[in-house]
Amino acid sequence: MRNRDLTQIINACNSTRFINTGINAKPFMKWAGGKTQLLDELDARLPESIVKEGTIESYVEPFVGGGALFFFLKRKYLVKKAYLSDINKEIMLGYKVIKYNPEGLISELERIQKEYLDRDNERRKEYYYSIRNIYNKQMQGFDYENYANSWIKRASYLIFLNKTCFNGLFRQNKKGEFNVPHGRYKSPNICDWRNINEVHKALRDTKIFCGDFTKAEKFIQMNSLVYFDPPYRPLNTSSGFTSYSKEGFEEEDQKRLADFFRAMDRKGAFLLLSNSDPRNNDRHDDFFDKLYDGFKIERVKANRHINCDAGKRGRVNELIIKNY
Ligand SMILES: C[S@@+](CC[C@H](N)C(=O)[O-])C[C@H]1O[C@@H](n2cnc3c(N)ncnc32)[C@H](O)[C@@H]1O
Repeated sequence: MRNRDLTQIINACNSTRFINTGINAKPFMKWAGGKTQLLDELDARLPESIVKEGTIESYVEPFVGGGALFFFLKRKYLVKKAYLSDINKEIMLGYKVIKYNPEGLISELERIQKEYLDRDNERRKEYYYSIRNIYNKQMQGFDYENYANSWIKRASYLIFLNKTCFNGLFRQNKKGEFNVPHGRYKSPNICDWRNINEVHKALRDTKIFCGDFTKAEKFIQMNSLVYFDPPYRPLNTSSGFTSYSKEGFEEEDQKRLADFFRAMDRKGAFLLLSNSDPRNNDRHDDFFDKLYDGFKIERVKANRHINCDAGKRGRVNELIIKNY
């Protein structure tokens, strides 16, 4: 090894404080737009002070979804306090159940897993649709505000459906119903108890809530690290965009978010945001360049599905925007 290489390695080691966080959690659900592909790029762009200290005093993620970056940070850094939210009630219910009652959830999932795996393919399919039916019916009149024992069963259905549905993705129609058909996985790991326990540990000192991203405002302070990962802007209005929630996220919302970003910048928080790059399709499209004018805008390569056909993967540009 050349001396220069060795010096570079030593410098890199000195600039990052390696800590044993004792946490090995990963997302408990596969989620559309999950950022696992982008983790290294995001990690390379964290504020210097965080990398140096190995500590994040306060982390806020208002579009948390499956939480790929949050769990990554929990594995690598000491995250002292975190505020996680999303507009999707079902995934936030999942987080709360893992925070408050992991054992109850694990025993429900063990039961479902046994019932499901003991059946042949045809019966598994029937079982899947019967749970999907109960899940969708239960939605009407369900109390998402006050934590109760009924949440545990609902979270177990959510995870079961996610692990056994086609493509493993959560998707709702306009009425909010889960409408993905049955998938044919041979032996899905429905009850991943090890990870549920790790997620439970990761959620200590975390506030979990549901709502529009602006609801996170009161938790964003000077030096908070905030990561925004909003829904992608549809390529054009006629593209078959699948919404995460019945509310959708329109161009007006992207503008609202940019205003919020500017307001949080004035508070002195460290802001990191990712989004799809519209220039993948139209090299003159400067929608985000204009919205985030004055901030650092970078384009990085990522692997992702570039259209509705899940089979068609491609290397496309993603935008990473930061205010530091
Ligand atoms: C690209 S996904 C986030 C994925 C996440 N970073 C992950 O790794 O799984 C965008 C998220 O924004 C949420 N969302 C949509 N509209 C929202 C709004 N107005 N306020 C807060 N969250 C919203 C969706 O439910 C979805 O989970």
